[in-house]
Amino acid sequence: MKIKKVIDDIYRFSVNIEDKSYLFEGIWPIPDGISINGYLIKGEKNILIDLTQNIFDFPTEITQQMEGLTLGIKDIDIIVLNHMEPDHSGWLREFCKENQKAVVYCTKKAIPLLQAFAGVPAERAIAITDGMVIETGDYELQFFDTPNIHWPETMMTYERKRGILFSCDAFGSYGSIDEDAIFDDQISQEKHQFYETEALRYYANIVATFSTFVLKGLEKLKGLEIKMICPAHGIIWRDNPAVIIDQYDRYAKYSKGPAEREVTVVWSSMYGNTKQVLHLVIEVLRKRGIPLHVFQVPGDDIGYILASAWKSSGLIFGMPTYEYKMFPPMAHTIDELMVKKVTNKKVFRFGSFGWSGGAQRDFEIKTEKSGWDIIGHHEWQGAPTDKDQETMRKALETYCDILIDFSK
Ligand SMILES: Cc1cc2nc3c(=O)[nH]c(=O)nc-3n(C[C@H](O)[C@H](O)[C@H](O)COP(=O)(O)O)c2cc1C
Ligand SMILES: [Fe+2]
Ligand SMILES: [Fe+2]
Repeated sequence: MKIKKVIDDIYRFSVNIEDKSYLFEGIWPIPDGISINGYLIKGEKNILIDLTQNIFDFPTEITQQMEGLTLGIKDIDIIVLNHMEPDHSGWLREFCKENQKAVVYCTKKAIPLLQAFAGVPAERAIAITDGMVIETGDYELQFFDTPNIHWPETMMTYERKRGILFSCDAFGSYGSIDEDAIFDDQISQEKHQFYETEALRYYANIVATFSTFVLKGLEKLKGLEIKMICPAHGIIWRDNPAVIIDQYDRYAKYSKGPAEREVTVVWSSMYGNTKQVLHLVIEVLRKRGIPLHVFQVPGDDIGYILASAWKSSGLIFGMPTYEYKMFPPMAHTIDELMVKKVTNKKVFRFGSFGWSGGAQRDFEIKTEKSGWDIIGHHEWQGAPTDKDQETMRKALETYCDILIDFSK
C-alpha cells in the first residue's frame, strides 16, 4: 500500500489486517479484515497522528510508506496519540527509541500508559487540555478530550483550517480498505452497505459499552464544522461525513430507548426438544411482519450476535436446562450481552428441561440488572406437547404486540 494524499500536505498511511484467522482484540473475527490508519502532516513540523500496531511487520510497512514522501522516522517532530490502545500505539516503543526528539501530544490520562505500554517517559509527553490548539505552518490542530471512546484516555484532533476531524476509533469500521478507494465518494453503493454493516458490528463489539460517552462526545463535536472525518479504522468521510455521524448517534441512542423493530433470536438445544418450537417463533414473527435474525450457540460467533442484538428492539432466547442452570454456551452469550450493556430490550425466553428445571431462574438472576423487560417465558418437560405449542403461540402474539408498540 502507498501513502495517500488526503488534502494539501495531509496524508493517510495504512495497513490492512488480512490474516483470516486473526481475532481483533483477541476475540472478534475479521473475515474481511480491518484497516489501521494513521495520518501524516508534512510541513514546518512533521506530525504523525496515531501510529500502528506492532504485528505482521506493520511498522516496517508504514516506514516504507513514509519514504514515499522522502520522510524517515527521524524526520518526525510531533506524534499526536489520540488513543493508547496497542492497535494505534504498538509501534511507539521502537519509534521513540529511533527518534529521540519527537514529542508526544496526548491526554493527561495517557501519560502513565505511555510508560507502561511503550516505556516512553513522561518527559517526552505534552498533556493536552480540552480545546487546546497548536499551530505549525499552515495547520492548526485543536485537541478535544473524548474519554471512553474508546479507552478513558481517548481524545480527538481537529484541524481547524480545513475542518478535518481525526477521530481515532470513533466513526470506524471493520473491513479492509482498497488502496484506490479510501474516500466515501470512491466506493460503490454496495461497498457502502458493507461498511455500514461492519461499522455497526465494530460499534457493538468495541464501543457499545461506552454509548453514554459517545453521546457526550457527539454533543461536544456539535460546535465544530466537520468537513472531513479521518478515522483510524475504515474509510475517510469527505463527501458526506454526516452519514457516519448520524449512524453513530443512532447506535448510541439504542442504549437509551428502542432500537429497530427487529428481533434477534438466539437458541441452543442438545437433543432437539427446545429446537422443536423454534419454527413457531419464526412463523409468528414473520406473520406479524417483524424482521428476525436467528443465531445458534455454540456455532454462531458472539460478535455477530452482539451486532444484531444491539440493533434489535427485541431479544428471544431458547435454551434448555443444564445442570440446574442455563445451557452454558447461552450463559456465556448472556454474560457478553451484559458486558456490552445491551439494554432496553423486550425479551422472551423458552426452553425444555428434564427433571426440575433451573434455566429460567438462572436466566432471571443473570439478567436482573440488564434493563430488559422480560415479557414472558415458557418452559416444558421433555418434548413440547400441542398444548405447549399453543401456549407459546399465544405468549409470542402478546410479545409481538408489546414489541410493535415499543418500537413505533
Ligand atoms: C448434561 C445434561 C445436564 C442436564 N441438567 C439438567 C438439570 O439440571 N435440570 C433439568 O431439569 N434437566 C437437565 N437436563 C435435561 C435437559 O434439560 C432435557 O433433556 C431437555 O429436554 C434438553 O433440551 P434439548 O433437547 O433442547 O437439548 C440435563 C441434560 C443434560 C444432557
Ligand atoms: Fe480502541
Ligand atoms: Fe482501534
